[in-house]
Amino acid sequence: MKTIDSFNFKNKVVLLRADLNSDVCRGKVVLSERIKESSETISELKRKGAKIIILAHQGRPGGKDFISLKQHAKQLKVKFVEDVIGKKAEDAIANLKKGDVILLDNVRRLKEEFKPGKNALVKFFIGKVDFYVNDAFSVCHRKQTSIVSFPKYFKSCAGRVLEKEVKALKKINLKKCLYILGGAKPADNIKLLGKNKVLATGFFGQLCLISQGIKFGGYEKFLKKRLGKEFGIMKKLRGKLGNVLTPIDYAVKINGKRKEFSLGEFPSKYVIYDIGEKTMSLFEEEIKKAKAIYVKGPSGDCTEKGFCKGTIEILRAVSKAKGFSLIGGGHLNDALNISKIPREKFGHISLSGGALLRYLAGEKLPGLEAMSK
Ligand code: 3PG
Ligand code: MG
Repeated sequence: MKTIDSFNFKNKVVLLRADLNSDVCRGKVVLSERIKESSETISELKRKGAKIIILAHQGRPGGKDFISLKQHAKQLKVKFVEDVIGKKAEDAIANLKKGDVILLDNVRRLKEEFKPGKNALVKFFIGKVDFYVNDAFSVCHRKQTSIVSFPKYFKSCAGRVLEKEVKALKKINLKKCLYILGGAKPADNIKLLGKNKVLATGFFGQLCLISQGIKFGGYEKFLKKRLGKEFGIMKKLRGKLGNVLTPIDYAVKINGKRKEFSLGEFPSKYVIYDIGEKTMSLFEEEIKKAKAIYVKGPSGDCTEKGFCKGTIEILRAVSKAKGFSLIGGGHLNDALNISKIPREKFGHISLSGGALLRYLAGEKLPGLEAMSK
């Protein structure tokens, strides 16, 4: 894989695909690890005398977090251009000087982004750009123009964030990896069910239990509403849970306080917010034995005071484990910040959710494939 070390960027125009996609809280973009890490690649290219055009996305069309990149530009301390392939972008690119950086607007504003090929988005940059740098490992599972089409028309290489992710993933012994699968998006986890041992946490753990006949009571209605279509994955779980260890107790909220129930005490009317202490101990024993560990997503709702306990205990056990550890997903990154466990205690902290999971499941990532051709 070619990297930033492979080329001389002095006075060259670089099209940098970054992943700046972050949580948006009441219209405000949260300063994420993604934004912080991307700025390192940008600074390096600046130092090397490049003229830098950053292309990125935020949210998906129709979503609440589908907004412009104006705030991201402010956080990166670079100039924002309210345009992707129009006159304003054209002028801004023509005026770039050595070391200048501009961030174009949300590339997902263009329908061409979703139809890769030599489309208007690609044609716009032909003749304007010398190099394409892909620094968005976390988007490499998407067959989108800014990921798979540019490498066909420009000399390409990996940015530092992508390079770091790929190098770290090569270190993990996938055959002996223990998967701790939680988070808010349970459907993707199915891809990892099979040979390896799995500790099921978060919504995923609850769905595994329901599929085995456990009745949670009123909470199931809440879960159904919260997960929408993903609630239906339960049917696909049957027969696949041979290597999956599920929680044996849960924490619910009663009058604002944490209270733990063992599985036998359900159904109940209360909402589940976390795994319980017995589950934590059970899982910690598995973590101690593991040769390699991948943690995806929190075990419970870390935005609720007192309910990040399970997630933090899991992270603490993983931080002490002998095996190489890989931590993935945006929300788990936030939980890690709450836990105050030093980041160096882990083998690698990934900025990716879906892309990482697919990589571990042995799928080829279209973005990496495109660059290797
Ligand atoms: C992510 O947040 O996982 C990446 O930015 C990719 O976003 P997407 O899932 O909307 O394609
Ligand atoms: Mg995501």
